Amino acid sequence: MIEAKNLIHFYGQERAIDGISLRVAPGEFVALTGESGSGKSTLLAILSTLLRPDSGELRIEGKAPEAWGDLNRFRRRYIGFVFQFHYLIPYLSIAENVALAADRERRQEIPALLARLGIGEIARKKADEISGGQRQRAAIARAVVNRPRILFADEPTGNLDSKNSEKVFDLFRSIADEGTTLVVATHDRRLAERADRIIDIKDGRLV
Ligand SMILES: Nc1ncnc2c1ncn2[C@@H]1O[C@H](COP(=O)(O)OP(=O)(O)O)[C@@H](O)[C@H]1O
Ligand SMILES: [Mg+2]
Repeated sequence: MIEAKNLIHFYGQERAIDGISLRVAPGEFVALTGESGSGKSTLLAILSTLLRPDSGELRIEGKAPEAWGDLNRFRRRYIGFVFQFHYLIPYLSIAENVALAADRERRQEIPALLARLGIGEIARKKADEISGGQRQRAAIARAVVNRPRILFADEPTGNLDSKNSEKVFDLFRSIADEGTTLVVATHDRRLAERADRIIDIKDGRLV
């Protein structure tokens, strides 16, 4: 559960987020759409606790960030991130990159997860031996392996062709159906339709 009230954030003089209030229910899959520069990445960073807004209120799982105490622990426990630019350890294989992030009891699920994303066959290849789209899917596997309560993804299919974009959204759809809350920024309208709800933003405001 995410609740945000009147979020405002400036970069210098520019009001990148201009009074956004929203609520995302547990297990809800929300697509965040809007043109480039509309504020999607900034809003995701605020909602995911990575960026503190200049003003406004944020509550995750009913609590404000100040009440969390150890923010790292909170993030580890509740939140997964997929960024537009994904960073894997180049010396390790895809499977090892995912295993590094995985809780012990999740490790056995890695082969099936990689297969689901269409990268099962290259699980033993090193991260610097595969394509950008394959790395992106590996980064998605890493972010979802522990089944975070909330998953944030910023243009996660930006480098993918339509077939692999479908696989990623199929995976998102099924983890949402299993109870994960998802907020995914995308400018692909057709993919956004697969979410439960579309939130459209323009100039830092909800449309
Ligand atoms: N780190 C930053 N410093 C200054 N301006 C930024 C920064 N990040 C984003 N902006 C500006 O804030 C606005 C919203 O950007 P962003 O959140 O990245 O939008 P989107 O993800 O929808 O493309 C844009 O005008 C962008 O130029
Ligand atoms: Mg962006």
